[in-house]
Amino acid sequence: MYYPEEIIEEVRVQNDIVDLISEYVTLKKKGNSYFGLCPFHNEKTASFSVSQEKQMYYCFGCGAGGNVITFVMEKENYNFVETIQLLAQKRNIELPKAQYSEKAQKEIKKRQSLLNIHKDTGRYFYSNLQQEEGREAREYLSKRELSTEVQRKFGLGYAKGNHYDLYNYLKNRGYNDQLILESGLVIKSKTGPGCYDRFSDRLMFPIFDVHGRVIAFGGRVLDGSMPKYLNSPETILFEKNANLYGLNYARVARKKEIFIVEGYMDFIAMYQAGIHNVVASLGTAFTKGHANLIKRYADEVILLYDSDEAGIRATIRAIPILQAANIKVRVLHLPKGQDPDDYIIERGAESLIELGSNAVGAVTFQIQMIKTKYNMENIEQKIRFIDEVSDLIAGLSNAIEQEIYIQQVSKIYNIEADALKTEVRKQMQKEQNKNKNISINKIKNKRDINKNTKAEEGYFKTQSELLQIMCLYPSVLIEVKKHLLPEDFIDPFFQKLVGLIYEKQIDGHITNPSQFTSFFETSEEQQKVANIFLAQKEYENKEMITKVINDTVKKLKNKAIEEELKTTKDIEKLQKLLKAKKEVDNLYIDCIYG
Ligand code: UTP
Ligand code: MN
Repeated sequence: MYYPEEIIEEVRVQNDIVDLISEYVTLKKKGNSYFGLCPFHNEKTASFSVSQEKQMYYCFGCGAGGNVITFVMEKENYNFVETIQLLAQKRNIELPKAQYSEKAQKEIKKRQSLLNIHKDTGRYFYSNLQQEEGREAREYLSKRELSTEVQRKFGLGYAKGNHYDLYNYLKNRGYNDQLILESGLVIKSKTGPGCYDRFSDRLMFPIFDVHGRVIAFGGRVLDGSMPKYLNSPETILFEKNANLYGLNYARVARKKEIFIVEGYMDFIAMYQAGIHNVVASLGTAFTKGHANLIKRYADEVILLYDSDEAGIRATIRAIPILQAANIKVRVLHLPKGQDPDDYIIERGAESLIELGSNAVGAVTFQIQMIKTKYNMENIEQKIRFIDEVSDLIAGLSNAIEQEIYIQQVSKIYNIEADALKTEVRKQMQKEQNKNKNISINKIKNKRDINKNTKAEEGYFKTQSELLQIMCLYPSVLIEVKKHLLPEDFIDPFFQKLVGLIYEKQIDGHITNPSQFTSFFETSEEQQKVANIFLAQKEYENKEMITKVINDTVKKLKNKAIEEELKTTKDIEKLQKLLKAKKEVDNLYIDCIYG
């Protein structure tokens, strides 16, 4: 952390969460909390709650949660330091400057210079396009039906044919060789001294980050030569895995679904046609990083790749990656040989939107693709088709979903449903047997992961519940603190949080729980903290609370003892543990609260 803890606390305390969130969301007061439509997922009824007292927010719909700092980080996609700076500025708080290490200061300066190089280059390319030298590129753009308005909006430009043009331009603006090289816009000459431009005689597309800053470029040839597109290499600004072209626009479109297309031209054609919830993967393989990025802004994706073989392959690969990130996937398959840009030019945007409403679910698409591999007139091939499809259906986690696809396949491909069901069951059996042979430590299979997360979820729930009650009733906190150590909790997250609660409580009271969020780094952990403090249940009576507390304390204590018993060989220690176990059995925490 770059700023001292007290400053961060100061910034947090000075920025009231209700005021700040009201800048983004219309909040209405209901009881002790404020409610509004969640800005992190699409919803029609308000399940997003903000507590002024606790200075935290939590969404009962999507689980987003945290304090004022996390809110800005998530909403603006800022990093921690940027967020503190923004919030400090809002309240006229002066931040200390010397807190950056020298190395960090250098890093920040370099980033800023690289951003400047990209900004200058973008302007330069754009002005080239308007000059006489840009005429051919302008003609090309009008041939491809891109309006001048859209050209301006996306900062399209032209890189001149002279191989040193940009290099000279940047040198003249005072940038040094090392920085220019690091921008990736020029390449060091292998044969002689000096550098030459990466892009020459190309139509240029600036690539933006989510804040709309230019961080890289892509360039297209104006004729049929190869390679058709060249892109900037990875730099400290441009991490391909953490960027999607157009996300800066798609995220403000605020739709529950986002289209993913392959190319620059597809993106721009769709945008020009009024479809703004779209991003382009720029021909690179779709990764987990991309999926997590999208997850911040949408719950559903419509894959709209080119309808050639490469596009289908890319679609098939992207499906499980998106599903693993809990994103619903549909697939829009265009007529043969087309991409979205061709399609819009040929049939118009309305037709594409109409097609979009017919996009099929990921499983249906996968089944259709398996079908294309086999000739269903041939018995042996049909059997192989059934084999592959049953394997796919067996992998679905939900029995109802399995049933739906069994019926669907049975109907469309004229296969006895019962026979298909038997096949699916066989495949599941096979999987299970395979799993048995895999050592328990190596959880490879999806079903195992599910089971494991279920157990984890269970522990998460009981521990959260205990903490919620502790934080609701000071006397309970005092009592539990006598019996349970932070180490008695099961995972590092709870151990750390309980440690903090014990440390900061005064006579069982916790005055500002939102301070805890800043001690956790990942947004997942911060959401868990918000969940514990804001998703508190009402408990009907004292008996209920007493039961929950006693059960949970015993369960946690016992688990800790059992873990130790497993590894202890020392007789004396064994006896001690058994004695402790007995004590736990007889433990009774009487809750005096109110
Ligand atoms: P496409 O060839 O489908 O691009 O490649 P496109 O956008 O439809 O291009 P037009 O319509 O011919 O102008 C999809 C994406 O893959 C990347 C580019 O990002 C492109 O937009 N690509 C393609 C490359 O990086 N290099 C290439 O040589 C080709
Ligand atoms: Mn195209």
